[in-house]
This record gives sequence, structure tokens and C-alpha cells, in this order.
Amino acid sequence: MSQADEHAGSRRDFLYYATAGTGAVAVGAAVWPLVNQMNPSADVKALSSIRVDVSGVDVGTQLTVKWLGKPVFIRRRTEQEIAEAREVELSALPDQNAENANLPGVQPATDENRALDETGEWLVMIGVCTHLGCVPLGDAGDFGGWFCPCHGSHYDTAGRIRKGPAPSNLLVPVAEFLDETTIKLG
Ligand code: FES
Repeated sequence: MSQADEHAGSRRDFLYYATAGTGAVAVGAAVWPLVNQMNPSADVKALSSIRVDVSGVDVGTQLTVKWLGKPVFIRRRTEQEIAEAREVELSALPDQNAENANLPGVQPATDENRALDETGEWLVMIGVCTHLGCVPLGDAGDFGGWFCPCHGSHYDTAGRIRKGPAPSNLLVPVAEFLDETTIKLG
């Protein structure tokens, strides 16, 4: 989309900090548990959590951390990204489930239900395409969000699948702010 294209070039693509990397991530435990991945909240929460310092994440950029063996996208969205996500009618979404592990039951996939904070500035998602598991690229695709080049799945600025073979939205993991600059995963 034209608005997304305007700022795509000016953004940094995502940074990648592995758990053994810069020390930006404090690791509580690093074992991938053999639990039912469709219902991760209670089991995974009990086994592992990490704290992520997000003080260096500028608006319009994304930090990628590795958690439980998977990439997690922590994006600080622009007002335009938030507005675009909030303008979308639920009926336009192939998957209308929020896919948010922080919410009880099945909730509608509104941007409000997927964002980490009330303003919508922060969005945290498992960075694994729901089709066959590739890692989508940020600031890409027809909807200005993420694009999975493996088979052409397009996600919007809330990480919701909009076009392509992926059956569902990018999963929002259990996460919370511990203070203004620290996000806890798990
Ligand atoms: S794995 Fe992403 S589109 Fe197939």
C-alpha cells in the first residue's frame, strides 16, 4: 500500500538479538518444552520466561528476540501503523480470532485485542508464519506489516493474515510490561 511504502525505506529492518548475544535479553530458562503448542499459556509460562529491555527500540522499528527457540517480534508501531490496523473491519479478516495468549477464550481479532498496551504502540508476536513456519519479513507485503516470502503470505500492521496461504494470524504470546522499558515474555 502506498502509505506503507512511503516509510518502509526509512525504517531499520529488524535487529536480531539471540539469547546468547548482546545481553539485551535475560534468559530464565532455555529449554523448549514438549507441550501442546496450541495451548501454551499455563505450561510454557511455568517453564520459562525472559525479560527484554526495549529502551533502544525506536518508533517504527522492531526488535527480534529468541524465546523458547522461536523468534519473537517486538514492534514499536507508528501512529500510522496503529491507525491502519484499527481501521480494518473484522469482516475483512480471514482469521477473526485475536490469537492472543493473554486473553481468555476466543476474542475478536481487533487491533486493540492484539496490541500489548492501550495506546497500541507496542505489538508482540511470535515471528513464525502460521502456514509452514518460515520467519516473515517486517515492513513488507501488501498490507504494510509482514510478508512471508516462502509461499506469499501477507500480514497487516497488527500481524493478522490478510492474503496468502497462512491460515491464521501471527500468535501473540503471553507478555506484559514490567516497567516502562522492560517487557516480560512468558
Ligand atoms: S511458510 Fe509462510 S507462506 Fe508458507
